Amino acid sequence: MKTLLAGKKILFGISGSIAAYKAAEWVRELAKAEAEVTVVMTDAATRFVSGLTFASLSGRRVYTGMFEKDAGEDMTHISLAKESDLVVIAPATAQTLAKLAHGFADDLLSTLVLASNCKVLLFPAMNSNMYCHVATQANIAKLLEYGYEVIEPGQGKLACGDEGIGRLIDWQIAREKILSILAVQDLEGQTIVISAGPTWESFDPARLLSNRSSGKMGYALARVARRRGARVILVSGPSAIEPPPEVEVINVMSGEEMHKGMMAQYKSADIVVMAAAVSDYRPGKTMKQKVKKSNKSIEFELVPNPDILKKLGDKKKKANRPLLVGFAAESTEHIAEGRRKLKEKNLDLIVINDIIGKNTGFGTDTNQVSLIDRDYQLDKLPLLSKEECAEMIWDKVVKLLQ
Ligand code: CTP
Repeated sequence: MKTLLAGKKILFGISGSIAAYKAAEWVRELAKAEAEVTVVMTDAATRFVSGLTFASLSGRRVYTGMFEKDAGEDMTHISLAKESDLVVIAPATAQTLAKLAHGFADDLLSTLVLASNCKVLLFPAMNSNMYCHVATQANIAKLLEYGYEVIEPGQGKLACGDEGIGRLIDWQIAREKILSILAVQDLEGQTIVISAGPTWESFDPARLLSNRSSGKMGYALARVARRRGARVILVSGPSAIEPPPEVEVINVMSGEEMHKGMMAQYKSADIVVMAAAVSDYRPGKTMKQKVKKSNKSIEFELVPNPDILKKLGDKKKKANRPLLVGFAAESTEHIAEGRRKLKEKNLDLIVINDIIGKNTGFGTDTNQVSLIDRDYQLDKLPLLSKEECAEMIWDKVVKLLQ
């Protein structure tokens, strides 16, 4: 599957901060995702990291000056600016922000920004006093007014030894920003509630009943929906995954808590996706003290948890909303079971997950799913990364919304 970044022309500006070395990873990741990255460095940036580093990572010529040899027939700045789908500047120093805020064009990078007519994404990195200085803040306000995107830097220990705001943000957050600018905003205006992960059903203070779900599929759905413009509320069972940026997260533990969380959230939702692996049963009684072992076998009662999706499907019969997407975790009779659940739970779409195949199902980074929509149309998808899988599921949801 072609990724959003494949073939995109990204003009990647680097200005003179020690954080310039971190831009090497960003350029490598963008190139790995098949973006065509052209790096432009300010003179100060070349003192921190060599242009050769970026030429090797991007596989393309690196530009540093306005009047370089071999610039071609076109004026370099005009041709590079005209071709780009996106301009990214990381790190953007206080000096670069000041220049751009005042429309300076005294080096190649600032000239290119002026000559471009695509979106410009600025990732500032500097000492916290410099960042918080009223002059820098006034420049940022001006840049926002001009329509530039300025991403607030991270907090933490800075290269100068100070602690505070000013760190170049992590690549994963930057990646989301870049992708959300390139993505079609076809989920804009939609409020989407997604459940994810397993549930933990306590037996005693030490033990619990759970399942193998990692939350990866639900989190990928949340990340991609946010990227495509939705407001996303993620109701998550216990998961080790970092929540996606700009997603509202409600942490729950048990099936009953997830039930409560979903019932509280679904009313504001246009779309609900139950990707969580809710435990069908919970211990009838949670022991207050740890149960001690003995040589005898023990028996304990399991009582059913509420079927959250079924309850939402029943509610939908009256209100005819929200659009409801369920998952089916299957090890046999996948399609027949998927169809049954689609009908019984009154869904618009069911995602049938093969949980015993190779590289698919619980805990893996890839997934093999089939989709059946409310008209019983079946789409069998190939083995995809969970993020690609999420893209395909949202493509289908967008069609159902029409
Ligand atoms: N689900 C739910 N509440 C439950 C159990 C499941 O909301 N107590 C949801 C899941 O999030 C999923 C769908 O129902 O979207 C189907 O879950 P699955 O485990 O595949 O099927 P079950 O309905 O639990 O039936 P079975 O376990 O017998 O296959």
